[in-house]
Amino acid sequence: MSSRSSDQPRADVSRRQFLKRSSLAMAGAAAAEFPFVRTARAAAADMEVKIGLIGCGGRGTGAVLDALGAATKVIYPAAGYHTEDVAEGALIEKNDIKVVALADLFDDRLARCRQQLAKLGLNIPKEACFTGFDAYKQLLAVSEVNYVILATPPHFRPMHLKAAVEAGKHVFLEKPAAVDVPGVKIVMEAGQLARQKGLGIAAGTQRRHMQSYQEAIKRLRDGAVGEIVYARCYWNGGEIWVVERQPGWSDMEWQLRNWNYFTWLSGDHYLEQHVHNLDVMNWVLGSHPLRAVSAVGGRQVRTGPQHGHIFDHFAVEFEYPGGVRMFSQARQINGCDNLVEEAVVGTQGTSNCKNFIKPKMGDAWRFRGAEPNPYRQEHEDLIASIRSGSPINEAQAVAESTMTGILGREAAYSGKAVEWDEAMKSTRRLGPEKYEFGPYPTPDVAMPGRYQFS
Ligand SMILES: NC(=O)c1ccc[n+]([C@@H]2O[C@H](COP(=O)([O-])OP(=O)(O)OC[C@H]3O[C@@H](n4cnc5c(N)ncnc54)[C@H](O)[C@@H]3O)[C@@H](O)[C@H]2O)c1
Repeated sequence: MSSRSSDQPRADVSRRQFLKRSSLAMAGAAAAEFPFVRTARAAAADMEVKIGLIGCGGRGTGAVLDALGAATKVIYPAAGYHTEDVAEGALIEKNDIKVVALADLFDDRLARCRQQLAKLGLNIPKEACFTGFDAYKQLLAVSEVNYVILATPPHFRPMHLKAAVEAGKHVFLEKPAAVDVPGVKIVMEAGQLARQKGLGIAAGTQRRHMQSYQEAIKRLRDGAVGEIVYARCYWNGGEIWVVERQPGWSDMEWQLRNWNYFTWLSGDHYLEQHVHNLDVMNWVLGSHPLRAVSAVGGRQVRTGPQHGHIFDHFAVEFEYPGGVRMFSQARQINGCDNLVEEAVVGTQGTSNCKNFIKPKMGDAWRFRGAEPNPYRQEHEDLIASIRSGSPINEAQAVAESTMTGILGREAAYSGKAVEWDEAMKSTRRLGPEKYEFGPYPTPDVAMPGRYQFS
């Protein structure tokens, strides 16, 4: 285990400098340069992916298995942790991908992930397993790691992404990318830095890696339903799991383990879950919204202390460029009609943005292709792009979708319209100044009309 790694960018810069020097020294001798170009391309093409996982919970474990092409068994329980374990009889498909290091805040969560990997014969040595609030720094100092998966609660994502890019690693980051505006800006900046350094970034907004969405949205952007007049999206579902407080847990430990219910950690479910749908809306409309025009929301059914202080329902109207309206709803309440989808209505037809386009005139279009597992596809796409020498970079897109969620959440919390440009000036950072276990009271529930977004 060596110290800090910035292998890739350093190698990149020196390669570029070397080629520049070579071409100057050997002006007119282009043939002499060829072997070096070929070597550089071959290095990327042959790159062995060496994963470091930060956040070894359900999704983090699942993301590693997806990258390896190993089948998972995913359980979203009513209570306890969400798990994505190794499925019975699973095998590793991608033998050119290694798992090198693990980092988590908690020993028990890391140990479970490590046990799962051991089922596949992957034994991560203790020296490559790091715990605590600074575990990410130790993992990023492992020079062998060249591909980092970020799967902690969203609060930590900007800090982890920035550090990973600075350390010269390619990154797969789970959604959402942040919980507040300063975090969104850090993600945008890290995306730019990654581009300069030739690093790839993919986000866990996996619809972007589904062929059905890709084909439908290409058609829609090419005018398949004429001008889009309005759009709508929903994540109306049931309650999700709760991690009950155990004796001896401080406020901080409990909030970190039961993170979905605290806005500073999850961003509220409007952002944490609905970001998938908001991301599709930004993609199909080719822009982020200009403003959240009007919003309502509250906490009516899911009101126990185990539910922290987040809302259980939201409805937001956004305005996009050209006056296009987008209506969004998100609910986590049991016993209601569930609806998870996106849709657009255009001057010449309608679509679900996914696999169906119905023009006013002519035949409907349906996506009839095979749809590979998007959780695997997002890693395949990122790794293929890195190996091709043109790494994809989804930082700006996921940052804008995250910001769209923040805009809607803040409009509902405050009961006021929120402008994108004004909101982008917010310097309010959510969460404690210092990360340490101890007292940290549950924040107040936002009361529309009284709560202020600043
Ligand atoms: N793309 C998808 O469809 C999808 C599905 C589920 C979850 N997610 C996202 O994945 C992320 C993780 O969700 P999950 O359900 O796996 O949660 P989880 O609680 O199972 O896992 C989070 C892990 O991060 C660890 N952690 C917390 N703070 C940390 C820190 N500062 N440093 C290191 N480790 C830390 C926790 O101990 C835990 O092991 C979330 O952002 C969630 O929104 C995405």
